[in-house]
Amino acid sequence: MYSTKIVGAGHYVPENVVTNHDLEEMMDTSDAWIQERTGIVERRWVPRGSNDTPSVMGTKAARMAIEKAGLTPDDIDFIVFATLSPDYYFPGPGVQVQHQLGVKTIPALDVRNQCSGFVYGLSVADQFIKTGMYKNVLLIGSELHSLGLDKTPRGRGVSVIFGDGAGAVVLQRCEEEGKGVLTTHLHSQGEFAKELALLGPNTTHWVDEIIAEADPNDTSYYPYMNGNFVFKHAVTRFQEVIHEALQTTNMQASDIDLLIPHQANLRISQYIQQKMGLSNDQVFNNIQKYGNTTAASIPIALSEAMEGGKVNEGDLLCLAAFGSGFTWGSALIRM
Ligand code: UT7
Repeated sequence: MYSTKIVGAGHYVPENVVTNHDLEEMMDTSDAWIQERTGIVERRWVPRGSNDTPSVMGTKAARMAIEKAGLTPDDIDFIVFATLSPDYYFPGPGVQVQHQLGVKTIPALDVRNQCSGFVYGLSVADQFIKTGMYKNVLLIGSELHSLGLDKTPRGRGVSVIFGDGAGAVVLQRCEEEGKGVLTTHLHSQGEFAKELALLGPNTTHWVDEIIAEADPNDTSYYPYMNGNFVFKHAVTRFQEVIHEALQTTNMQASDIDLLIPHQANLRISQYIQQKMGLSNDQVFNNIQKYGNTTAASIPIALSEAMEGGKVNEGDLLCLAAFGSGFTWGSALIRM
C-alpha cells in the first residue's frame, strides 16, 4: 500500500499586526493578562476592506506549498480545505481555491472540524492517497476570525486569542517503506458542542429573524467559549490522543523529534510538553506571533518549522489538535 508524504508546506499571514497594546485600547484588557494567560504577544488581523478572504489567503499559502514541493498547480489532484470561517455560508472555500489556482475541474472537499480541521483533513487526504485514488493532494487550513469577533469589553475572553492566517501542505503518494503518515487518530464529543461555538445565524434562527429582532444583547453571532472548561478538556485530550498514536506505532514520547500542537494557548502546549517530558527543542510554538488561528495554526507552524530547518528528513513529526465540537486528533509522520 502507498503512504502519504508531506512534500511542501506554505503559509500566508496578513501584514496587519495587532499587538496586545492595540487591544488595550478596544477592550478592557491588558498586555500582562494576555501574555500571562495565553502567551500571545501579537496577532495578524485582516483590515476591513482587504481582499484577503479565507480562500484568497488559502490560495496564497497553497501556491507557496506547491512551489516548495517543486510542482505546479496542474499537478494537484484533490483539494481539501479546513476552516470554521468560510468566505460564504455555502459553497465552501475549496471550490474557490480550485478556481483561483486556475486548475482543471479537480474535486474540492471542505472540512468543518475547527481547531482539529487540519488533522482531520490530513487523515482524509491520507486515505485517498493510500488507496491509490489520488497522487497529489493540497490540504489547506485558513481562517479569518477578526472581522467576526466581539471587540467590546464583553468579548474580551474570546477575542484577544484569535488571529487570521493560512497554511497549506502538498501531500504526495510515497512508496518508501516506513515513510510518511504512520497513523492518524480522530475523535469527537458533540455533547460539548455549545462550549465553544458560534450558534447564530443558523438554519432555525435565520438572518431575517435576527434583523427583525435587532436585539443588541444577542451575542449568538459572535464566537462563545467556556474557556476554563475547554482548557481542562484540551490538556487531557491532547495527551490522550498523542499517546494513542505512540501506542499504535510502538513508540515513546522520546522518539518524537518535533511536536506541533494546535496553537490554542501557550500554557496548554507547555503543560503537555511538561507532562510528556519533552524538551524545548521537541515542541514548536508560534502562538506568540499569530494568536490562535484555528485550522490554520498547525500548517502555519509546520511551514515555519520547515523553513527554519527544524524538520529534517527521517524526523518523527507529531501533530495534535483539540477544539470546538469537541473534536481532537493526532498524527505521526516520518518525514
Ligand atoms: O483552540 C481551541 C481550543 N481553545 C482552547 O483550548 C482555549 C482554552 N481556554 C483558554 O485558553 C483560557 O481559558 C482563556 C485564555 C480563554 C481564559 O483564561 P482563564 O485563565 O481561563 O481566564 P478566566 O476565563 O478564568 O478569567 C479569569 C479572569 C476573570 O475575571 P474575574 O472573574 O476573576 O474577576 C475574567 O473576567 O480574567 C478576566 N478576563 C480578562 N481580563 C483581562 C477574561 N478575559 C480577559 C481579558 N483581559 N482578555
